[in-house]
Amino acid sequence: MNGTSSTTVGRDEAAAFALPERALVGVGSRPFGIYVHVPFCATRCGYCDFNTYTAGELGTSASPQSWMEGLRRELDVAAQMTGAPAVDTVFVGGGTPSLLGGDGLADVLGAIRSSFGLAGGAEVTTESNPESTSPEFFDRLRAGGFTRISLGMQSAAQHVLKVLDRTHTPGRAVAAALEARAAGFEHVNLDLIYGTPGERDEDLDLSLDAVLSAGVDHVSAYALIVEDGTALARRVRRGELPAPDDDVLASRYERIDARLAEAGLTWYEVSNWARDDAACRHNLGYWDGGDWWGAGPGAHSHVGGVRWWNVKHPARYADQLAAGALPVGGSEQLTAEDVHVERVMLTARLRTGLPVPELDAAEQRAAEEVVADGLLVREGDHLVLTDRGRLLADAVVRTVLR
Ligand SMILES: C[S@@+](CC[C@H](N)C(=O)[O-])C[C@H]1O[C@@H](n2cnc3c(N)ncnc32)[C@H](O)[C@@H]1O
Ligand code: SF4
Repeated sequence: MNGTSSTTVGRDEAAAFALPERALVGVGSRPFGIYVHVPFCATRCGYCDFNTYTAGELGTSASPQSWMEGLRRELDVAAQMTGAPAVDTVFVGGGTPSLLGGDGLADVLGAIRSSFGLAGGAEVTTESNPESTSPEFFDRLRAGGFTRISLGMQSAAQHVLKVLDRTHTPGRAVAAALEARAAGFEHVNLDLIYGTPGERDEDLDLSLDAVLSAGVDHVSAYALIVEDGTALARRVRRGELPAPDDDVLASRYERIDARLAEAGLTWYEVSNWARDDAACRHNLGYWDGGDWWGAGPGAHSHVGGVRWWNVKHPARYADQLAAGALPVGGSEQLTAEDVHVERVMLTARLRTGLPVPELDAAEQRAAEEVVADGLLVREGDHLVLTDRGRLLADAVVRTVLR
């Protein structure tokens, strides 16, 4: 990113990592979130480049136990460094958090409660893979204090799940969502991926029918990204699978938006739809420049304009914490320019829109051109993406910032 004063720190610096006083001003007076990264998966999906490891890849170098010990230490240090603000939102992601089981996830939340404490009405989400859930699992999470479940459904079409290397059967994600709701979860999200090679319009319709039959209050839908270095990228390069087509992706997005809107799920971020008051507060914190501590291997944090990230490998993560150091892999102090660029990039994608007063004169002129092109519309002192603008959100941001 332009103007970022980014540094990668070594072991000694990591041991000495500290937040400057100015970053801590106001912490606790604005929403504070905790993200916990669970770096384990049963198998690796061919499209995924997240920081996650199978048991075979880890061997004896790290385990859920060594990860949990490291996590407890990290949370304790985090609470000391930040003054332990009450936590407004928790998001346990991965990887596959549901591999920890209901008891393991309840322990994670217990560790957050004992280090920081939760604010009244806190939103507490865990991601889960449909195949590693059950009614008992959801009951345990509910009793443990979780308030929201996010399930990686991706598709309801068997052949699409196969291309994605997903191991759940087509009906399992909806069944899991219904089990979560029966356990008392009012807030359930289903993640979809669209544009997978071989997916047809009728496959997407099947997925949308399934999502709507589950009665969830939140849907995230992501265009399939062919990430460098993944098995999917190798298959596309060898010509075994076609790359996702931009026109197809655009028409699928429109199909998703129309079906969800008709059912009362409206977009609040380009890739996220929710019923009233069901937007994910934790993710809104990321998009609105909030404070959060990201714990776990490879997790990113942001507090008061300082951003840092942990070492990626679970063995190194646990070793550094056992040696008494924060497992910091790098950090950067955001400049005013960085903060501005990020705010434009993130707020432009939100239904609430881009605040015009935050744009300088040249940006406001560029934004007016985008309005004239029909990609942004003015609502009060905000600029909001039009339906067509949502398909071209990255280009809109580039034009405004050029
Ligand atoms: C990394 S996963 C972690 C949660 C869980 N293991 C799962 O797969 O649902 C979170 C979400 O990221 C999305 N995702 C991961 N890789 C992607 C890619 N290459 N393209 C589009 N979406 C992707 C999927 O929708 C997935 O549900
Ligand atoms: S289960 Fe989720 S995190 Fe694990 S490899 Fe698949 S997409 Fe990635």
